[in-house]
Amino acid sequence: PARAARDADGVLTLAGVDAATLARTYGTPLLVLDEDEVRQRAREFRRAFDQAASEHGTVAQVYYAGKAFLSATVARWVVDEGLRVDVCTGGELEVALAAGVAPASIGFHGNNKSTRELERAVEVGVGSIIVDSAIEIERLAAITARVDAVQRVLVRVISGVHAETHDFLATAHEDQKFGFPLEDAEIAVARIREIPGLDFVGLHCHIGSQIFGVAGFRESASRVLELHAALLEGGAVPQMNLGGGFGIAYVRSDDPTPIDVLAGEIVSAVAEGCAARGIAVPALSFEPGRAIVGTAGVTLYEVGTTKDVTIDSGAVRRYISVDGGMSDNARPALYGAQYSARIASRVGIGAPQLSRVVGKHCESGDIVVDHEYLPSDLVPGDLLAVPTTGAYCVSLSSNYNHVPRPPVVAVRDGRSRVIVRGETIDDLLSRDAGIDGANAPEGE
Ligand code: LLP
Repeated sequence: PARAARDADGVLTLAGVDAATLARTYGTPLLVLDEDEVRQRAREFRRAFDQAASEHGTVAQVYYAGKAFLSATVARWVVDEGLRVDVCTGGELEVALAAGVAPASIGFHGNNKSTRELERAVEVGVGSIIVDSAIEIERLAAITARVDAVQRVLVRVISGVHAETHDFLATAHEDQKFGFPLEDAEIAVARIREIPGLDFVGLHCHIGSQIFGVAGFRESASRVLELHAALLEGGAVPQMNLGGGFGIAYVRSDDPTPIDVLAGEIVSAVAEGCAARGIAVPALSFEPGRAIVGTAGVTLYEVGTTKDVTIDSGAVRRYISVDGGMSDNARPALYGAQYSARIASRVGIGAPQLSRVVGKHCESGDIVVDHEYLPSDLVPGDLLAVPTTGAYCVSLSSNYNHVPRPPVVAVRDGRSRVIVRGETIDDLLSRDAGIDGANAPEGE
């Protein structure tokens, strides 16, 4: 987790920078990202998959899934640590390119990439495009013919494995929008192999997100391998990409499998299947997002009001309102996600009080931390820290209720710097066309 400690006055410090100074300097809410933690997680993934792959006579690539959190700085960190970058829109692609990520190290995903997005990806020379539909295959055939390029592609398949996670986070069961059902994928691959501008390199499968166990990954890998083996009859299949989805601990009861164990189990599932069929183990790729940045993030909020509400059981629940909420962390409202909170500006001395940390938005579902025991002496002006907010918080953020998005600050060795500036009210106003279009941009 992020390098959190307390200084002599009891103020929470993050990688040696105290939370009160961060809040004073940058304002709240504020996402603080621990650079060393991101780098270390990236290295751990690399090492774990390198090791597992080399034990089975193959290689493994790790792509950082930028959807979890993407900025030029973070893209640089992960590339420095030997990762590649997975993008899933033209916007993410541009951030990766702006960060100087080599196009050949970029994988491009998405179930509805536009012709423009695909053209851009082919023209810059992304390493691989993961195709998701028959229509996309024809779009790519036309583009590669027009620009006279050969594009490497993988075919995304649905393995039918139900990952044990929230319904919206599971992506490889049958009735959802991503990929080709296994029985249709063979036709898609045959079609790709006919197109001179496309180079089929392998299958891709991602079963879902925030997964703790190994069983789903192993089962999915062996199902994908069956198709992989069948495809070898029509030509080479040098790669296989098994996606991301590696879970992290948000609250104490969360118990994800350590990454070296997961890597070993998944790679050996593939290797065993290959040995049984007498085929070579393909080069493997993985796409962790959450597990690289999730634990590195801590959000700082300032407490604005507190209110005691008597609940059914007669007990009292304290509602603690902070200056952000579902606009900077939609995950509790979207998925019922659980977080924890602690006082950051000092050491609380009051008895622990059942509390719910809520945001400032006009919805009762605007919850940051559903239940937490916080010191009863917490007052307006105190700072709260909510850990494990590095993934899918800023990337899912919104301007709901015209609340500006918070800045992101990186901390390392006692120093801090802005890596994404916060929005201002002027940013929000500047997009409003004004009365009768008085403020409308030219040509609109
Ligand atoms: N690869 C593909 C094809 C994906 O669709 C995803 C995530 C990943 C990799 C990275 O998964 P990760 O390692 O981060 O679990 N907004 C949700 C998570 C959505 C995940 C979407 N796809 C959340 O906040 O929990």
